[in-house]
Amino acid sequence: MQKYKYLLFFLDLHKLIIMNKTFTMIKPEAVEKNLTGEILQKICQKGFNVIALKKTKLSVSQAKKFYDVHNERPFFNELIEYITSGPIIAIILEKDNAVLDFRNLIGSTDPNEAEEGTIRKMFAESKSKNAIHGSDSNENANIECDFFFSKTERF
Ligand code: GTP
Ligand code: MG
Repeated sequence: MQKYKYLLFFLDLHKLIIMNKTFTMIKPEAVEKNLTGEILQKICQKGFNVIALKKTKLSVSQAKKFYDVHNERPFFNELIEYITSGPIIAIILEKDNAVLDFRNLIGSTDPNEAEEGTIRKMFAESKSKNAIHGSDSNENANIECDFFFSKTERF
């Protein structure tokens, strides 16, 4: 019995130290084009586990809060209009090194600059309509996960 206790202790430790989570959002034009299934398949094939998932639509005030870091950028209004233009799929993912590995999987902001095999290269239309979001740090991943999901919605 004691050895199982140790095993569980180390599994918890592994989760705390190495496993981490990231937040992603399949953006309106990709949802509209019915790309959700294909995109999710690529994500799961790369070893990410889905912890929470929902289809929802951002209000203008929610979108402004979510993208607040960009509020002084010239494209801010365009970004808010786009991200509120239709439903999105909000997802929490878990994996070792989740934030960095997921940013590598989605590729550069502009699909023309994204590497072959990345989600944006395969599915994005343009730098603005770029199919998918990925958190850029562990800190922002936590903020973004909490923005969309309560603790009881995560498994
Ligand atoms: P996210 O994962 O969505 O945060 O993208 P990112 O981290 O690769 O890029 P960034 O945070 O710099 O920009 C946020 C979002 O703003 C992008 O994903 C685009 O949808 C949009 N965006 C970025 N640059 C431009 C631009 O020059 N014009 C327009 N219209 N939208 C832009
Ligand atoms: Mg960003």
